[in-house]
Amino acid sequence: MKENNKMGTAVVTGASSGLGAVFAERLAKRGYDLKLVARRKDRLDSLAEKLESNYGIKVTNLVADLGLDTDLEKVAEDLRNDKSITLLINNAGTSTLTSVTKTSVLKQKEMVNVNITALMLLSNAILPQFLEKNEGTLINIASVLGFYSLPISAVYSGTKGFVVQYTKGLQEEVKGTNIHVQLVNPATTATEIWEVGGIPLSALEQSTIMKTEDCVDAILAGLDKGELITHPSVNDQNLIDAYEDARLKLMQGSQTSQPAERYTKN
Ligand SMILES: NC(=O)c1ccc[n+]([C@@H]2O[C@H](COP(=O)([O-])OP(=O)(O)OC[C@H]3O[C@@H](n4cnc5c(N)ncnc54)[C@H](OP(=O)(O)O)[C@@H]3O)[C@@H](O)[C@H]2O)c1
Repeated sequence: MKENNKMGTAVVTGASSGLGAVFAERLAKRGYDLKLVARRKDRLDSLAEKLESNYGIKVTNLVADLGLDTDLEKVAEDLRNDKSITLLINNAGTSTLTSVTKTSVLKQKEMVNVNITALMLLSNAILPQFLEKNEGTLINIASVLGFYSLPISAVYSGTKGFVVQYTKGLQEEVKGTNIHVQLVNPATTATEIWEVGGIPLSALEQSTIMKTEDCVDAILAGLDKGELITHPSVNDQNLIDAYEDARLKLMQGSQTSQPAERYTKN
């Protein structure tokens, strides 16, 4: 095992399956020590054992339910006190894909707690030490449903919309520093979240589903290019640029102080 790992420690939330487990493997391969967060201890333990033996790095598991205030605060406290952290990937997420009236309040709150509150408070926990060191990388996993809603995704899309705007805000805050904040908007990817959400992968249009490994590798390639916004599956960069441009123009077009003519003229 290496002493004083030069890459530092990467924290991956939601590392027990899907994108998070692949992030952990890819980052271990890059030489990071790891701190892995999720509820399923058995999965984290076997992943940690495999990565430590394959890559000679150190893995610490934080078994926690990020939907619970007490567990979340314990993880946040751990992050605040660990000055070896150089990278945080806020990847943990959950979904229930049904109409709002058919989704229990418990499930709606769980989506808000894990997808919004945990991501926000863990970002809060790590940013002060990144600012102090003037370096560090934060990756927030949103979704294409952060800018699009389906009749079954009002709450999930709402939570991911938060991640999009929150992360863009953070990017503005750290402008001019060496801190990099990457916003990621994956589309359909072959992970357990679809089963969790109540829609088996087999029910989806198969040609739209990306392999988990491909998604993670695209995200890390985006990171290596220094991207602020990564859409792993969007081939046409012009679409991304046009969307960002339209957003900015709409904002600028709103700063008029006057009601629009269509509301004042018959
Ligand atoms: N797959 C897609 O199509 C897709 C598309 C766009 C965005 N995303 C986003 O990608 C991220 C990763 O999801 P995935 O697709 O890889 O799904 P996944 O395989 O279901 O992984 C989700 C991870 O989050 C963890 N998690 C869920 N609830 C948690 C809680 N209460 N406390 C702690 N950890 C919790 C899970 O671990 P435990 O169950 O062990 O706690 C698991 O490790 C999510 O933010 C998701 O919204 C996915």
